[in-house]
Amino acid sequence: MESMEHGMAQLILDSLPSPVLMSDLHGRLIFVNRAVEDDLGVERGELLGRPLIEALYQGRKFDRRGKYRSALMETLETGRSFNARFVEVKTVFHQLPRFFLVDTFFVHSSGGQLLGACAVYHDIFRHRELLKRAVMSRLTTISEQFETIYAFAEAIGARDLYTMGHSEKVAEYARLIAEALGLQEKEVDLAYICGIVHDVGKIGVPENILNKPGPLLPEEFVQITCHPDKGAAILSHISWLEQVVPVVLAHHERYDGRGYPRGLKGEEIPLLSRILSVADAFDAMTSDRSYRRALPVPVAINELKRNAGTQFDPRIVEVFVQVLLEYQF
Ligand SMILES: [Fe+2]
Repeated sequence: MESMEHGMAQLILDSLPSPVLMSDLHGRLIFVNRAVEDDLGVERGELLGRPLIEALYQGRKFDRRGKYRSALMETLETGRSFNARFVEVKTVFHQLPRFFLVDTFFVHSSGGQLLGACAVYHDIFRHRELLKRAVMSRLTTISEQFETIYAFAEAIGARDLYTMGHSEKVAEYARLIAEALGLQEKEVDLAYICGIVHDVGKIGVPENILNKPGPLLPEEFVQITCHPDKGAAILSHISWLEQVVPVVLAHHERYDGRGYPRGLKGEEIPLLSRILSVADAFDAMTSDRSYRRALPVPVAINELKRNAGTQFDPRIVEVFVQVLLEYQF
């Protein structure tokens, strides 16, 4: 009877879309469900019996800020359980950090013996509403208005599908760069917001130019170069986005002064704009576009390096390349 129950429990856990992991008291993985295998792209045989920090986090228990990389490990070592805690998961199998809400709890045998701890991860990208709530609760200073920027993202995406996904990826890259540069949390959050709204000015560019597959005529290019000014003008009407305006205005400036719209140079360009410029170029190169296929990541990295000091701030390129290598691109 008991083994039947076990078999049933295994089936249920394997049918659950949320990744479930369990570790023994020594931090060794003793159970993972099928969602873990699917999410990480590995067979459970490669994970079971191994220390979870070694199997999933290259043996690094803490992140740059000294926080636990694994909520499960934190529960095991501190005794604290989590209930729908917002976490960023960066395992060796993930190319980019993923956001989850995690529940952790201790597991006892029927005789009351402590067996280990369990973590259940809820992928919040599957639930856009949850994602918004989670990000909003993290953005302490500007939380109430966060919906506004998602409204912008939707508005841009409605006209140009590439831009929608692009804005979110640029935001994520910009946030990672800001974090790696050691900026304060408020600035890191601001980098994310700037990423989401940076191309909002494209609302003012005709759709046939935006989605034109071939090269642009000079007069069409002029229309495109207006989008930082248009974006800044739109955003300037929202008082809480005051700090975003100069960043968006300068996101197409170049480090050597040959960018647009003002021809600013070097440190005259706001730091967050220099960050956006690198993040923007990387995502543009590594995405499929109507006129060409995505470039492989190593080629895109070489392009960034080749243009460091001319198009891009060399320090930012260096930091970003490090970040990308860290995430196993
Ligand atoms: Fe742009």
